[in-house]
Amino acid sequence: MTEEKKTNDRFATKRQLVWFFLDGCKKYFLASVFFAGCVSLLDLINPRIIGYTVDAVLNDGTYELPAVLERWIASIGGPAVIRENLWWIALIVISVGIAGALCRFMWRFCNTKAAESLVQRMRNTLFEHILHLPYAWHSENHTGDIIQRCTSDVDTVKMFLSEQLTSLVRISVLIVLALYFMFQIHVRLAFLSLAFIPIIISYSYIFHRKISGAFRHADEEEGRLSAIAQENLTGVRVVRAFGRESYERERFEKKNTEYTNMWVRLMRILSTFWATSDIFSGLQIMTVTAVGAVFTVHGEMSAGDYIAFISYNAMLTWPVRMLGRVISNLSRAGISIERIRYIMNSPAESDRPGAVEAPMDKDIVFDHVTYQYDNGSGDILKDVSFTVPAGTTFGILGGTGSGKSTLMYLMDRLYDLPEENGTITIGGVDIRNMKADWVRSQIGMVLQEPYLFSRTLSENIRIAAQDAGMPEIRNAARIASLDESIERFQDGYETYVGERGVTLSGGQKQRTAIAQMLIRKPPIMVFDDSLSAVDAETDAKIRAAIHENSGESTVILIAHRLTTLMHADHIIVLDRGKIAEEGTHEELLKGNGIYRRIYDLQTMQENREEE
Ligand SMILES: Nc1ncnc2c1ncn2[C@@H]1O[C@H](COP(=O)(O)OP(=O)(O)OP(=O)(O)O)[C@@H](O)[C@H]1O
Ligand SMILES: [Mg+2]
Repeated sequence: MTEEKKTNDRFATKRQLVWFFLDGCKKYFLASVFFAGCVSLLDLINPRIIGYTVDAVLNDGTYELPAVLERWIASIGGPAVIRENLWWIALIVISVGIAGALCRFMWRFCNTKAAESLVQRMRNTLFEHILHLPYAWHSENHTGDIIQRCTSDVDTVKMFLSEQLTSLVRISVLIVLALYFMFQIHVRLAFLSLAFIPIIISYSYIFHRKISGAFRHADEEEGRLSAIAQENLTGVRVVRAFGRESYERERFEKKNTEYTNMWVRLMRILSTFWATSDIFSGLQIMTVTAVGAVFTVHGEMSAGDYIAFISYNAMLTWPVRMLGRVISNLSRAGISIERIRYIMNSPAESDRPGAVEAPMDKDIVFDHVTYQYDNGSGDILKDVSFTVPAGTTFGILGGTGSGKSTLMYLMDRLYDLPEENGTITIGGVDIRNMKADWVRSQIGMVLQEPYLFSRTLSENIRIAAQDAGMPEIRNAARIASLDESIERFQDGYETYVGERGVTLSGGQKQRTAIAQMLIRKPPIMVFDDSLSAVDAETDAKIRAAIHENSGESTVILIAHRLTTLMHADHIIVLDRGKIAEEGTHEELLKGNGIYRRIYDLQTMQENREEE
C-alpha cells in the first residue's frame, strides 16, 4: 500500500462541517431563531393597536381585527367601553413592549450562548486536530496563516451563523408579515411600496458583493501589517544588530499608511452607499406617505389604516437593506468555512491497524533508505543502509545538508518513509508498524535547533516528563553540565526563560534541551549536533557524563566536530545523502577519505589555535 498524499473527505461539504461544529449548540441556535421570530412578530402588533385605537376607539369607525379579538371586545362592551378606559390600550401597548423586550433578551442570550459555545468548540477542535497533524504538514503550512484560520476565520463563521443567520430569519418574518398586513390594508399602496424593495435589496446586494472583495483585501493587509510587526518583534536582535531600525520603521510606516488610506477609501465608499441608499429609502417612504395621504383623503383608507400602513412601511426600511448585506456576506462566510475545512480535512497522523509497541532497546537497521521531501528537490537520502547495534554509541558525520537530520526525522517518524523507499526496523520490527507515539516516547531527540517555551527552567526541563521531581531535574541538569549555570542565576531553577529561550545563551539552550531528553532516560538517545554551541571542554565533559549515565541506551551522535564523535563504537560518514565511508575512528583514519581530511583540517586548526 502506498502512503499517498491524502486529502481525506471527512467533511465532504461545507454544510457537513458546519453541522459538525453546531453539534451541542443547535438547540440554542433554534431557540435564538425562535425568539428572533417572536421579536419581529411583537414589533408588528403595535401599529395595529394604534390603527384600531384611531379608527374604532377614538373615531367611532370600523377597523378589521381577527374574529376572536372582535368577539372578545364585543363581550366586554365594545369600543365604547375601551374609550372610557383608554389606559387599557396603554397597558396593552406596554405589555407588548415588555414581551418584546423579554424576547429580545432571550434572543440575545441564546444567541450569545450558541455563538460562544460554537466558537469554543471550533477552536478546541481545530487546535486538537492541528496538534495531531503530521510534522510534514506543519512544515508546509505557514504558522501565521494557520493562526488566522483559527481566529479571524472562526470569527467570521461565528458572526455569520449567530448574527446574520438569525437576522435573516428575523428579517424574513418581518418583511413577509409586514407586507401581508400592508396588502390587507391597501393592495395598491402595498404594491407601490413593494416596487421599491427589489431595487433596494439589489442595490445593497451588489454593493456589498463588490465591497466584500475590498474587505477581504483589508483583512489581508491587516495580516501583512501584523506580520511585519511580529517579524520585527521576534527578530528584534537582528534588527538592532544590523542597525535596521530606520529601514524597518519606514517599511512599517509605508504599510501602515497604505492600510490607513485603504480604510479611508473603504469608508468613503461605505458612506456613499449609506447616503444613496438613504435616498432610495427616503424616496420610498415619501412616495408611500404622500400617495397614502391622497388615498386617505379620498376615503379609500381610514386614518387608523393609514397610520398602521406607514408604520409598517417604515419598519421595512432597515431589514430590506440588511437583507442584501446578509446575502452578500454568505460568500464571505463560505470562504472562511472553506479555509477551516482545509485544516479539518487534512488527515491527522494515524497508526496502522494492529500497530505495536515493540521493545526499542534492540538493533536499529536502516535498510536501503531513499528519501525525498515533497518540494521536489530530489533525493536527499540515496540507498542508505547501516545498523546501529543495541546499546552502542553510533556517530554520524557529514557536511551540512548531507541528510543527517533527515535520517533522524525518519527514525522518529516525524516524516513517513514511503513503502517502496526501504525500511527502518528496530529489533526487526518495521517502525511503520509501530505506534508513532510509542516510537517517539522511546527515542529521545535533542533537536538541532532547540525550542524552549516561555516558562521556568525547571518546567522546561521536565516538559517530556511532567511527573519528574526536583531530584530528577537536578540530576538531568548535572549530566548536561547545566547545573553550574543554573546556580549562577538568581532564581535558579525557577528562572523564567524568555520567549524561545532568549534569556539563555546558545550553549545553555542546547544543554537545557539535553537535560529535557535525559530526564526521560529513553532507550534510544539522539544528539543532533547538540554540542555545537558549547566549548570543547564542556563537550567532552557532557559526553563523559552521558556515557556514564546512558546505561543500556543506544546513543546516536551527530556532529560536525570530529572530537565529539571519535570515541563512538561505529561512525558513518554521510556525503550528499550517501554513506561515503564507515568504521571506527582508527579504521576511518587509515582510510584516507573524507574522514581523514576532516580530521587533518580540524587538528590543524586546533594546533593553530593552541600556538
Ligand atoms: N522540511 C524540509 N523540506 C524540504 N527540504 C528539506 C527539509 N528539511 C531539510 N531539507 C533539505 O534536505 C537536505 C538535508 O537536510 P538535513 O537537515 O537532513 O541536513 P543535515 O545533514 O542535518 O545538515 P546540517 O549539518 O546542516 O544540519 C537539505 O538540502 C535541506 O535543504
Ligand atoms: Mg541537521
